[in-house]
Amino acid sequence: MIVKSVLIFDSGVGGLSVFQEISALMPNQHVIYAFDNAAFPYGELDDDVLVSRVCGMVSALCKEHDISLVVIACNTASTIVLPHLRSQLTIPVVGVVPAIKPAAQLSQTKHIALLATPATVKRTYTQDLVNEFAPDCKVEMVGSTALVMMGEDKLRGKPTDMAKLDTILEPFQYGVDCVVLGCTHFPLLKDEIQQMLGEKCRVIDSGLAIAKRVEMLLRQEGSHSLSALSRKHDVFSSAEVKEEEALNKEMSQMGFSIIKRAPTF
Ligand code: DGL
Repeated sequence: MIVKSVLIFDSGVGGLSVFQEISALMPNQHVIYAFDNAAFPYGELDDDVLVSRVCGMVSALCKEHDISLVVIACNTASTIVLPHLRSQLTIPVVGVVPAIKPAAQLSQTKHIALLATPATVKRTYTQDLVNEFAPDCKVEMVGSTALVMMGEDKLRGKPTDMAKLDTILEPFQYGVDCVVLGCTHFPLLKDEIQQMLGEKCRVIDSGLAIAKRVEMLLRQEGSHSLSALSRKHDVFSSAEVKEEEALNKEMSQMGFSIIKRAPTF
C-alpha cells in the first residue's frame, strides 16, 4: 500500500519547527519538506510574487507526489496565500498564523508582543487578528529578517549571536509578559529567546496547535498512517542550497534523505 505524505512548505528551514511538532505527534507519518530558497526571504517579497511562487511550487509538488495534506508552515505566506491555494487544490491546506489569541488570554499585564517578519507585521490579516482577539492589549510588533537568518544559521550548526539577539528583543524588555513567535524560523531559537527575555515572559508559537490540527484532519480523511515509517522523509529546494552539506547533516538527524531539487513550476 502506498502511504501518502504530508507536504510541509516554507521559504527556508523555518517549517522544520512545525515538522518537529508533527513528527513528535505522528511519528509514523511520512513527510515531504519543500522550501523555496530561490525567493528567500519571503518577509521581504511583494505580495503578488509570494502568492504566485507558493501556489506554483506547491501545486507542482502535489501533481508529482501522493500528498494527503499540505501545511504552509510559514506565517508570511499563510497570512495571504491560503484562499488562493485552497481554490487550486482538493486536499486540505493548513496554514500557520500568529498566536495572538492565546497570548492575549494568557497575558496578565495586557502588554504583549509579536515577533514576525517585516511582511507579517504589516499585513491587514495580522492587524485584524489583533483587533479581534487582543483589543484590550497593547501590542508591540517587531519585524526582523535578521532573526530569520539566525534561524537558518542555527540549522547549519552555527552558534547564535546572543548580543545580536538581545538587540532585536530590546523593545520587549519592559512590561511585555507574552511574546508571540509569528514566524516559523523563530521557534528554532526558542531556548535562546526565552533565556534573553527571562522566565517571567512567556514565549509562544503555533507549532503544537498546527500539529494537532493536522492529526485531526488526517484522521477525518482516514489518511493517518498506522504502520511504522519504512523510508526516510524527503526534502526539496527550489535552488542550490547555501551550506548544503551542513544542512543535510542536521536534517539527516531528523530522518530526512539528502536535499533534492523541486520540480519546476
Ligand atoms: N518562516 C517564514 C514565516 O513563518 C518566513 C521567513 C522568511 O522567509 O522571511 O514567516
